[in-house]
Amino acid sequence: MDAMIRVVDVHKAFDEVPVLDGVSFSIPKGRFAALIGRSGHGKSVLLRHLAGLVRPDRGQVFVDGEDLAHLGGRALRRLRRRFGFVFQGGALFDSMTVLDNVAFPLRECLRLPERSVRERVATALAQVGLSGSEAKLPAQISGGMGKRVALARALVLEPEILFFDEPTTGLDPITAQSILDLIARCQRELGFTGVMVSHQIPRVFDITQQVLVLHRGQVRFDGTPEQLRVSTDEVILGLLGAEDAAGSNGRIRNGLET
Ligand SMILES: Nc1ncnc2c1ncn2[C@@H]1O[C@H](COP(=O)(O)OP(=O)(O)O)[C@@H](O)[C@H]1O
Ligand SMILES: [Mg+2]
Repeated sequence: MDAMIRVVDVHKAFDEVPVLDGVSFSIPKGRFAALIGRSGHGKSVLLRHLAGLVRPDRGQVFVDGEDLAHLGGRALRRLRRRFGFVFQGGALFDSMTVLDNVAFPLRECLRLPERSVRERVATALAQVGLSGSEAKLPAQISGGMGKRVALARALVLEPEILFFDEPTTGLDPITAQSILDLIARCQRELGFTGVMVSHQIPRVFDITQQVLVLHRGQVRFDGTPEQLRVSTDEVILGLLGAEDAAGSNGRIRNGLET
């Protein structure tokens, strides 16, 4: 299998408390995977391992065949340029315009002439439906637009892999759905490999082709959304059932307790 991401028996503990306890899975090139599970079960920690921001105590993370642990600082930075991130909160720099926020990774990573920077920012803003918003400040735009800007900032380096950590946190259900739809469209059009931590159950299953359920530091389920829907595993039923209990709001409330 042509795996873009391959995780082999990863263990990670903080202060001797295991958080990841033998995690293994693969994500093929171009696939969009959802990472779900209760709060505190290691989803964000796992995502940071995939991005090479944290090293496992034991086990390996391969990205495009390269073992992240064996890469030196420069090689790791070069590989990380192929990644994009939309983190929880998706924080923008408040004092910077939309242009400067989206241009930030370009200016940090590439020495491009200003005209090319502006062209690439304009392209990324068009991809998220925000053409012409360059001069706005974060305080002048809505929460949903802020998430779009964060997505544009992640897209501007034309990443091959995109990591999303709860990219719709804090949004009302309709705006959250529009952000999910936008992410799905970008993924289809641009073809990046994606991993998204999300509480938008079951909506996230409509836009992903693989679901990983992390439970107590282990992969409890790895399969398609269709396979997940017919699972009789009580942990998975609990995750899916929490959605019903949360009602129209669509967020797992009961599932948030560890
Ligand atoms: N840098 C850290 N130092 C100590 N503990 C951490 C650190 N990062 C995460 N943890 C702990 O690891 C566990 C999993 O956290 P996290 O991956 O953020 O969960 P979630 O599934 O909600 O994203 C939590 O108990 C958290 O407190
Ligand atoms: Mg998290």
